[in-house]
Amino acid sequence: MSRVAMMLALVLFAVLAWQSLRKQGSTEAVSPADLLQEISRSGDSQLVQPIPQVLDLDPRKLALGERLFREPRLSGKGFSCNTCHPLESGGMDGLPRSLTIHGGRDQMNTPTLFNAAFYPYLQWRADQPDLAAQLDAVIANPLHMASSWSAVEESLRKDPGYRQAFREIYDSEPTRSRIKDALVTFEQSLITPDSDFDRWLRGDEKALTEQQQRGFGLFRRYGCSSCHQGINLGGNLVARYGVFGSAFNHRELPLNEFDQGRLRVTGNNADRFLFRVPGLRNVAVTAPYFHDGSVASLEEAVGHMGHVQLGVDIPVEDRADIAAFLRSLTGEYRGRRL
Ligand code: HEC
Ligand code: HEC
Repeated sequence: MSRVAMMLALVLFAVLAWQSLRKQGSTEAVSPADLLQEISRSGDSQLVQPIPQVLDLDPRKLALGERLFREPRLSGKGFSCNTCHPLESGGMDGLPRSLTIHGGRDQMNTPTLFNAAFYPYLQWRADQPDLAAQLDAVIANPLHMASSWSAVEESLRKDPGYRQAFREIYDSEPTRSRIKDALVTFEQSLITPDSDFDRWLRGDEKALTEQQQRGFGLFRRYGCSSCHQGINLGGNLVARYGVFGSAFNHRELPLNEFDQGRLRVTGNNADRFLFRVPGLRNVAVTAPYFHDGSVASLEEAVGHMGHVQLGVDIPVEDRADIAAFLRSLTGEYRGRRL
């Protein structure tokens, strides 16, 4: 190829890359699976895509799924999914470490369910492949729902309202696979489009303040985006928590099983302290931070990441700019800012 042709190719590539970074939003309905495929095809996983504004999901399944999501009979002990993942407050409980169904505290912070449908694998340790598998695990988890599908089926079949809803939608009794289908459909609908950042990505130059734009630049320049990337700004990689020394020096609680990360999932020593890089969408409303809920503010979380993941002491002004950018990632659910 001649030099000129190569230059032209480079320019074309840069223009295309910029266009896809500032991709125009589409109002066409898109399924989460299609979107994930598009992201993996697009090659540059560091590009951030806006959250889609419309999803193609069956409204009858959504209504049934929401009812099930808020149904304490799913646990038989008063807990529903919404107890720990309240949709009214960011899809998580705001506690450092989750409640357990028997009282007391679990070892990990409750993640938000908003935009969880976009993750290629779920939970802090990336130990569940998708929403359906995670649902099997959470229903049986003795600390979370402490139930079983047969108990759930039995209790829903006693209810004429549920029987009728399942008959209308699935032409069937409430069965494990139908209950899961309705719940997973509802979980897929928990997306938060139209954050200031997404409006900016779509071309609204005024959607971000100058400080927030500076913060986005710093986020990329410091290398946060080498781990926090893709549509959720995280979630598609597993990384060592504490690349530059221990990530736990700031905390009083002694190390526990969960802190060992994927080591306790795979049994492989090389997986100690490996965690899924969490997404950062809506991070401003899901404090406290990290899998142990050990950090209360965004500015502190940014400083902590600088120290333990990047080996740099990020100056206070830069922390403030990055935190301001992170606050632009709060989206809307049912037309209301989270
Ligand atoms: C007692 C509190 C509690 C209840 C009840 C509960 N969860 Fe969770 N949920 C958690 C915690 C804690 C985690 C993190 C677990 C982990 O990472 O190992 C989690 C993780 C998840 C995730 C993964 C999110 C991510 O970012 O990867 C999904 C999805 C989920 N829960 C859905 C549900 C559904 C659906 C229900 C109801 C059937 C439910 N949860 C009930 C506490 C709870
Ligand atoms: C080497 C990969 C890597 C880099 C680089 C990185 N992070 Fe992280 N980040 C992680 C991992 C892994 C976690 C989860 C740690 C845990 O709690 O187990 C995390 C967690 C977070 C959290 C907490 C999210 C929550 O919901 O609790 C924030 C906020 C965050 N990172 C911001 C940043 C910022 C800002 C930068 C750049 C200054 C950055 N990260 C750089 C891997 C990385």
